Amino acid sequence: SGSFSFDLVIFGATGDLSLRKLVPALYHRDVAGQLNDDARLFAVARGAMSDADYREMAAAALREHVAADDFDAARADRFLQRFRYLTLDAQKSDDYQSLKSALDGGDERIVVFYLAMAPRFFGPICTQLARAGLNSAEARVVLEKPIGQDLASARAINEAVAAAFPENRVFRIDHYLGKETVQNLMALRFANALFEPIWHRGVVDHVQVTVAERIGVEGRADYYDHAGALRDMIQNHLLQLLCLVAMEPPNEFAADAVRDEKLKVLEALRPITDREVGDKTVRGQYARGSVEGAAAASYLDELGHSSNTETFVVVKAEVETWRWAGVPFYLRTGKRLPVRHSEIVVQFRPVPHLIFPAAARDVVPNRLVIRLQPDEGIALHMMSKVPGPGGMRLRTAPLNLSFAEAFRGRQPDAYERLLMDVVRGNPMLFMRSDEVEAAWRWAEPILAAWTGQDDAPKPYNAGSWGPSAAIGLIERDGRNWHEDMR
Ligand code: BG6
Repeated sequence: SGSFSFDLVIFGATGDLSLRKLVPALYHRDVAGQLNDDARLFAVARGAMSDADYREMAAAALREHVAADDFDAARADRFLQRFRYLTLDAQKSDDYQSLKSALDGGDERIVVFYLAMAPRFFGPICTQLARAGLNSAEARVVLEKPIGQDLASARAINEAVAAAFPENRVFRIDHYLGKETVQNLMALRFANALFEPIWHRGVVDHVQVTVAERIGVEGRADYYDHAGALRDMIQNHLLQLLCLVAMEPPNEFAADAVRDEKLKVLEALRPITDREVGDKTVRGQYARGSVEGAAAASYLDELGHSSNTETFVVVKAEVETWRWAGVPFYLRTGKRLPVRHSEIVVQFRPVPHLIFPAAARDVVPNRLVIRLQPDEGIALHMMSKVPGPGGMRLRTAPLNLSFAEAFRGRQPDAYERLLMDVVRGNPMLFMRSDEVEAAWRWAEPILAAWTGQDDAPKPYNAGSWGPSAAIGLIERDGRNWHEDMR
């Protein structure tokens, strides 16, 4: 909480991310009273447009993306008045001078430059901002993922940005870190005494991280076809989730203490070699199928040309530490799967010795299921006696915590929290440059091995759980995917 005076400059303000996520998030924070009267929003893009045109565009975005219950026309009008639109060509120095005179707020004022743009612009824009003297002590820059295409390009971006802004004022967004349920992973692990003593290889058999999406590539085929699921999701979102599950307890709840521990996990990831890539990864691409009873086109039909880009990935990751040696982390994500569902499953080992008679032997090892979205909550699957006089019959039943039931009220979107953290100057939920580079260091050899081996993605029907090889990968290890999703 708290309220703030600041200027926010959104580069790429007419783009999908700005309209779908940033404008609604700012509206909600304004309604919550966090924007002081003098807080200003500058929408920046290449095209010519009047302030009124942009406000109309933003108004349409609010009507589309803010739930009817939360929408208040009068407040929306007041909020939209904060916007000014500026035409800017990212390459033109003169345009930054115009931006500077528009800002003109003095050096003590908080200024946030939000680059909702393709990563190739990050370096050049930061250079121009510095040249125009816009990198004052209270200026911060926000970079959207992906940071680069590979390790070399990520490094080049980090260096160009670092020449203009010190690391503690660079905010690399991984919006998964702003999700309530993802932040709750730290509460679960470090605000409860129960879990830490069993959070290791002695008790945990393996971990599954699944981020399933029902949507296809929507209007983003151009971006997506150059990225693919490993770059788009695994290198950032799923690895960050893995880090929060696997990291050692930080000494304090402070940005660098937490990020140091995540970095150690990333650095401990076992490299996947050329020889192993066939066994430890599966890549897929959706073919025609049906999602929710409606016919769905194939990726290639949506794209309009042939492509080897994967829309589905499974990776068997391993964290080489004393805590996690021998405990695989199966990461799985894909588009056009049957449901939108993200969850982390911590699968515990079986009981050491069975005392029950043969009839009661179907004892299933415990599972902790952390549902990130939707239906946010945590379920601990435990064995119980089935009530009745017929003897000792056992069945698994969940101990279920539903966030919606336990905590009423609207769940803020990840971007609301993250935007205000930028204004506050708190980088805890943002990726540090060394984290990004360590993640690429692990991901890049996988990409290289796929390319080197001409590994074409395996087709799967839209609306299915990916190619059968995804099931084969985990079943070869004598395990199975948690399928209790609704
Ligand atoms: C983005 C990816 O980072 O995350 C998208 O680029 C993906 O491809 C999205 O759809 C998923 O986010 P969420 O919040 O809907 O789970």
